[in-house]
Amino acid sequence: MPRPVISATGLFTPAQTITNEELVESFNAYVARHNADNAEAIAAGEVAALEPSSVEFIEKASGIKARHVVDKANVLDPATMCPRIPERGNEELSIMAEIGVAAAREALERAGREAEDVDAVLCAASNMQRAYPAMAIEIQHALGVEGFGFDMNVACSSATFGIQTAADYIRAGNARSVLVVSPEITSGHLNWRDRDSHFIFGDVATAVLVEDAEIAPVDHWDILGTKLKTVFSNNIRNNFGFLNRTAPETRDGPDKLFVQEGRKVFKEVVPMVAAMICEEAERLGIEPASLRRLWLHQANAGMNRLIAQKVLGHEATADESPTVLDTYANTSSAGSIIAFHKHSADLAYGDIGLICSFGAGYSAGTVFVRKAT
Ligand code: COA
Repeated sequence: MPRPVISATGLFTPAQTITNEELVESFNAYVARHNADNAEAIAAGEVAALEPSSVEFIEKASGIKARHVVDKANVLDPATMCPRIPERGNEELSIMAEIGVAAAREALERAGREAEDVDAVLCAASNMQRAYPAMAIEIQHALGVEGFGFDMNVACSSATFGIQTAADYIRAGNARSVLVVSPEITSGHLNWRDRDSHFIFGDVATAVLVEDAEIAPVDHWDILGTKLKTVFSNNIRNNFGFLNRTAPETRDGPDKLFVQEGRKVFKEVVPMVAAMICEEAERLGIEPASLRRLWLHQANAGMNRLIAQKVLGHEATADESPTVLDTYANTSSAGSIIAFHKHSADLAYGDIGLICSFGAGYSAGTVFVRKAT
C-alpha cells in the first residue's frame, strides 16, 4: 500500500504587522469616541460605557505581541476597524487564492516539484472567500495543476483534517501528490471592536505537500498516524453565512463575526486534546514523553503550556513546544503548520514529533510525523 509522507511545507506571511501597542491605541480611541458620542445615554444608564483594552492584559492572557494582517490601515482606523479588501474582477486572482498560491509555490519549490506533478489541491481553511467556484479550484488553476481540487472547512483544525484526507487519497491510490493549502484571512471574521477578542487573530497562508513516499524527496517526514475528532460545542461560533449575513432583525445590522466563550474553550479543549494525543500515541506505540517536539495549534500560550505538560509529563521548553503566537497571533488552521515550517529543520533523522490542531466545532486533529532517515 502507498505510504503518505510530508514532502515539504510553504508559508506566506503578509508584510504588514500590528503590534499590541498599535492595536490598543486604536481600540481605545474607538472606545473614547463611542463613550463621548453616547455620553448622555451612558449617564442615563441607557447605554453601557465601553472599557479600554490593555497591552499588558493581551500579552498575559494570550502570549500574543503582534500579528500580520493584509490591511493594517483600515483595521487600525477607529472609524473602520475591519479590513477593506477591494473587490477584484472575476478574471483576477482572488486574495485568498493569491496568498494560498504563494505558500503552495514555496512548498513545491522546497520539494523540487513542478505543478504538473501534483494530482489534487485541497483548500482547507476556516473561512472561504466565496461559495464557488471552490477556492481550491482557483488555486489549482493558478498553479497549473491538473486533477481535482475542493474546499474543506473544519475551522482551526482544517489543515490537519486536510492532511489526513490527503494521506487517505494516497493510501487508497487515488492520488500520489496532494497540496493542502490553508489561506487564513482571519482579520475578516474578527470583531476588532470586541475587547474580549480583538487581539486574537492574524493573517497568513500555509501549504503542506503530502505525497507517496516512493516519489517524495529524500528529506521528508513519514506520517506515522493521523487522528481526527469533533464534538459539537457552541463556545466558538461564526454565524456568518449566505442565509444570515447580518443580524436577522435588519439587513443593516452588524455582520456576524467570530464569538467565543474563551474561558470555557480553555477548560474544555485542553483535557480533550491532551487525552486524544496520549491515546493516539499509545495506539501507535509511541511513548508521549519521548516526543521530540510538539507543533501545537497556536491559539493561546497558556493552553499550549498545559497541553504540552500533560503530554510530556513536564513543563515544555520552547525547544519542545515552539510558539509563533508572539509574532503571528492565532492564525486558525495555519498555526501548527507555521510552527512546523519554522521549527522542524533542526530535528535529527528518526526524531518523532506531533502536529496538532484544535478549535471550533469543537474539532481536533493529530498528525504524528518522523523525520525520515
Ligand atoms: N484588556 C483588558 N482587560 C480585558 C480585556 C482586554 N482586551 N479583555 C477582557 N479583559 C478583562 C475582562 O473584563 C475580565 O475582567 P474581570 O475579571 O474584571 O471581569 C478579565 O480581563 C478576564 O477576562 P477573560 O475573558 O476571562 O480572560 P481570560 O484570562 O480567560 O483570557 C482569552 C481570555 C480569550 C485570551 C482566553 O480565555 C483564551 O485564550 N481562551 C481560549 C481561546 C481559544 O483558544 N479560542 C480558540 C479560537 S480558535
